[in-house]
Amino acid sequence: MRVLVTGVAGFIGSHTAGALLDRGDQVVGVDSFSRYYDRRTKEENVAAVRERGDLDFRELDLADWSLTELLEGVDAVVHLSAQPGVRSSWEHFDSHVIANVQVTQRLLEAAKTASLARFVYASSSSIYGQTRGGRSSEDNVPRPYSPYGVTKLAGEQLSTLYGENWNVSTISLRYFTVYGSRQRPDMLIHRVIVAAQHDRPLPLYGSGDQVRDFTHVSDVVAANLAALDSDAEPGTICNIGGGTSVAVREAIDLVEQITGQEVPLDRRGNAAGDVTELRGDISRARQVLGWQPEVPFRDGLSEQIAWHASRLSDKAKAI
Ligand code: UGA
Repeated sequence: MRVLVTGVAGFIGSHTAGALLDRGDQVVGVDSFSRYYDRRTKEENVAAVRERGDLDFRELDLADWSLTELLEGVDAVVHLSAQPGVRSSWEHFDSHVIANVQVTQRLLEAAKTASLARFVYASSSSIYGQTRGGRSSEDNVPRPYSPYGVTKLAGEQLSTLYGENWNVSTISLRYFTVYGSRQRPDMLIHRVIVAAQHDRPLPLYGSGDQVRDFTHVSDVVAANLAALDSDAEPGTICNIGGGTSVAVREAIDLVEQITGQEVPLDRRGNAAGDVTELRGDISRARQVLGWQPEVPFRDGLSEQIAWHASRLSDKAKAI
């Protein structure tokens, strides 16, 4: 298969592209290098993909590129490019609308005539909003709690309706707080590990009792591959969650245990848009994709800690 991966220089995009190359697929990878975080980090991600095989990489902005042309010769799409950031989405709403809604619609419009075997849309657990008690299932009514969640839900609903109306073979995967090597620098686990490494205070939002189903990136990659290969109905939606619920405080404690370093805390108030609890029912993914998470949280944390440590020693060698 020739697979287009959008957001290939990002965290999940670079891991997905690497796995596709490993299994012998051809990959066209696109990225606009948006300024949300450091360009060098994204260039390192692309370099890591290139070590796995022959990546056809193009730097371009999907908001103004000819997407019909881009999809020529492409058999499937994994649409991972987005404007992330739950808590920052109050300030930069325009860029969320463009990247998460308009670009998704443009790609789906081009996909109408492209006879794709599959179009995988990266949705998000943030579409559920404030949930209290119990695991959220795909049949729950989504009530996003942040502007970011609203735009991810809009992208997901566009994917569903292009599936239903135009038979574009869409499938939306609602990822739950993904972590692992190359994690975005604004996310909790990345920041906790950097705080431990450098004895730098971690901004802690709220009480630290917030609960997430942290999901290791290798499990998310496995779900992406399973979705590409599945013959699920167009418009299918699946939760992709790590299966174990962990509070922010527990995650910090575990990093302290594994690294042997204390994490100094800089206590902040509750962040607007930040939900208290997000836990996913993954029975549909098990049934439809034959997928289940394989990486226990402690093992996944150790993998990410080792990645941060190797970056530090590379930097030390370069000095
Ligand atoms: C994450 C991603 O950032 C979103 O892109 C993704 O769509 C979303 O998961 C999802 O699963 O849908 P979030 O759950 O907020 O969003 O993930 P983190 O940034 O890792 O934050 C987890 C928790 O740690 C939050 O309660 C947050 O307030 C807290 N946190 C985060 C801190 O206390 N301090 C920090 O510096 C960062």
